[in-house]
Amino acid sequence: MSDEGPGEAGVPRRNFYGRRFGHTLRSSQKGYLSHDLESVRPWGISVAENPGRQVLDPVAMFGRDCPVWLEIGFGGGEHLVHMAQSYPDIGIIGCEPYINGVAMLLGKIRAAGVGNLLVHPGDVRDLFDVLPEASVARAFLNYPDPWPKKRHHRRRFVTQDHLLPLARVLVPGAEFRVATDIADYMRQALEEVPLAGFDLVDLGGVPWGDWISTRYEQKALREGRVPQYATFRRQ
Ligand SMILES: C[S@@+](CC[C@H](N)C(=O)[O-])C[C@H]1O[C@@H](n2cnc3c(N)ncnc32)[C@H](O)[C@@H]1O
Repeated sequence: MSDEGPGEAGVPRRNFYGRRFGHTLRSSQKGYLSHDLESVRPWGISVAENPGRQVLDPVAMFGRDCPVWLEIGFGGGEHLVHMAQSYPDIGIIGCEPYINGVAMLLGKIRAAGVGNLLVHPGDVRDLFDVLPEASVARAFLNYPDPWPKKRHHRRRFVTQDHLLPLARVLVPGAEFRVATDIADYMRQALEEVPLAGFDLVDLGGVPWGDWISTRYEQKALREGRVPQYATFRRQ
């Protein structure tokens, strides 16, 4: 069974199985969400705002013509802000449906003062619908939800339902980085990602030179799990 199907008037209807809300937000975090989010949230990604799924122009989204990178499921935003600081000439879009993570990211954006980030507080698949073909030059998938039970493996990001729309929006030659601490997740990635039109470039236990460890990675290391890092290239 697919998780996707046409909804009313052909608008995609999707199931999201992760968490959208966690512990009660601090009042500072509520403030970030009500004051800061609107200024970094591109209009027209959600189905509610853009039911006709009109294609968006990344130049208009960033207000300048720059290479666009994408982080899928940024969690608390450590890696996203680090990349924005390290590459000020790149425009980076982060997607994360977990609102507590979005609030954490907004706090980090304030502290770092970065201006080259946009945030979609929702499902990355909604962004895939409305980005032009070959518009993203690099994508990051850091510690995706592992869905350990076999019957849930089809919920993993590394399935064709997610990877084919990702491949469509990536520029030929674009890098797709995957970090995970779950051996079976990497097994599935090595099987599925090439089927969507990617070549494996590198795989190992040493992170990229510009990597910063994320909250999830720190937890994995404390619990004795071993990270693996894979780099794919869009054909
Ligand atoms: C295990 S956490 C890792 C977070 C972060 N990347 C890190 O390394 O700390 C996986 C994240 O992916 C997000 N996620 C899951 N499905 C997603 C989707 N379809 N679009 C965007 N984010 C998604 C979840 O909400 C969750 O925060």
